[in-house]
Amino acid sequence: MTMEFSPENKKKLAEILSRYPTKQAALLPTLWLAQGEFGFISQETMEYVAGLLDISPAHVYGVVTFYTMFHRKPPGKYNLQVCRTLSCALRGSESLLDHLKKKLGIGENETTPDGKFSLCTVECLASCGTAPAMMVNQKYFENLDASKVDEILNGLK
Ligand code: FES
Repeated sequence: MTMEFSPENKKKLAEILSRYPTKQAALLPTLWLAQGEFGFISQETMEYVAGLLDISPAHVYGVVTFYTMFHRKPPGKYNLQVCRTLSCALRGSESLLDHLKKKLGIGENETTPDGKFSLCTVECLASCGTAPAMMVNQKYFENLDASKVDEILNGLK
């Protein structure tokens, strides 16, 4: 089956393209739209997007692998994204990450065997004043410590 956006996302893409001076400039929002629809950015998705925007699949690959917000494999139901940038690092993000690794039994960029949790590190989440911070899918959690992280995990079904 050939990959294709839903009719609704085709409309959204047309809207996105109308806001950019060139098709190529719309790569990031187009990838975001694709991840929303297909769940992650597979090789096939990269080729589809490259074709839509008249750019090379290699260029799309370079962008997808640069930004941590794009998943190249299906993520777990809950994608835990721990900030590793300065303010969070100074306030203990590394030990939070270790805590999560031990607790979930997975390393960075891995998913638990039941598909429930994925773990990764990301650059500044713009929440430096309340460091350390992490996001679970699209939701922010701040001023974290190990016991808060445990509470958060317990609340995720
Ligand atoms: S350094 Fe972690 S949110 Fe900015």
